[in-house]
Amino acid sequence: MAAAAATTVVANPLAGRPEVWSPYTRAPLELHRRLPQYQATRLLSAPRLAERHGVGELLIKCEMSRLGLMSFKILGASWASYQAVAGHIGREPGPWSTVAELAASLEGLRPFALAAATDGNHGKAVAHMARLLGFEARIFVPEGTAPARIEAISDEGASVTVVAGDYEDAVARSAEEAGPRCLVISDTSWPGYERVPRWVIEGYSTMFWEVDDRLQATGRRAPDVVVVPVGVGALAAATVNHWSRHEVAPTIVGVEPLGANCVMASALAGQMVTVPGPHRSVMAGLNCGRPSAVAWPLVSAGLRTLVAVDDERARRAVRDLAAIGVEAGETGAAALAGLSALQARGGAVAADATVLVLCTEGPTDPAEWRRTLGVELV
Ligand SMILES: Cc1ncc(COP(=O)(O)O)c(C=O)c1O
Repeated sequence: MAAAAATTVVANPLAGRPEVWSPYTRAPLELHRRLPQYQATRLLSAPRLAERHGVGELLIKCEMSRLGLMSFKILGASWASYQAVAGHIGREPGPWSTVAELAASLEGLRPFALAAATDGNHGKAVAHMARLLGFEARIFVPEGTAPARIEAISDEGASVTVVAGDYEDAVARSAEEAGPRCLVISDTSWPGYERVPRWVIEGYSTMFWEVDDRLQATGRRAPDVVVVPVGVGALAAATVNHWSRHEVAPTIVGVEPLGANCVMASALAGQMVTVPGPHRSVMAGLNCGRPSAVAWPLVSAGLRTLVAVDDERARRAVRDLAAIGVEAGETGAAALAGLSALQARGGAVAADATVLVLCTEGPTDPAEWRRTLGVELV
């Protein structure tokens, strides 16, 4: 009984043929290539975990170190910030080939700020981008955010405000910052605010272009199944937008925490709904109560299976990844936890399937990560 309560797996009743976005180009990847420390992140094949989970091949896209940060979020934050700034000045910045040249070309804008709400990673990414551009950053976090995550954002030179309430309250507060000298760079959308979250989704495409290129270079075929962690659904939307255009589109599985499973609840309700907080999962990046409206059309049609997992399963996935040398935080390990939940429920994924799991962050709360692994600093 306890195991059943700890996992929910549903076939998405809204699944169909998603309407992918057009045009779809590698322009975000071209921007990312010009940012400091760009390199394609690792794509691992994990035979031991594949065997354990009863699948043919398990591929892990490792986003624990991305453009100098510990999660994939900088891909969306950088592309969206760049596009928003270009929109603000009415032209493409530059010409530039280094970030220093880009920042110099924006001299006339200062003082200028970027603002965002965050559970941790997106805010850190926006703050980082603001610093690269020579702007201020104003970041809003919900109460209960781990001190390590707040510190990581402050380390980028950002001001961090703790907002009473949940992630949604932090989003509402950040929106008040919009003005002639401040752009709000949100990864979720609300009525009248859709362009920036759309750019965030476009920015995530870099991860998938890299997977395509790596699969091609190593003579592998596209995965049969892609498993993606879901907060507001922006990453899931990018996943659907990329993989649904492949000749044989993979089955895409979305994984949320129990209690913050807003995409699953919305799919079952037939429309976007809010899952009330407080959301206190250890998978902090997924503690979201409402899907992003911009992401919803892709997510609702493109995710075939929806899985909600409890914290214990996420912790187990952290340990499984650590055992093969992959240092992932709980949010980062959520997709693997989702695969394990799926397979525990009768092996929904075929034994010869190639499964791509998105491992989206490193240990962004190191104290929690050490507790999960059963070690403490002395
Ligand atoms: C590490 C990590 N993975 C996955 C997600 C989920 O992304 P989305 O909110 O776009 O669904 C987040 C969101 O913050 C995150 O920080």
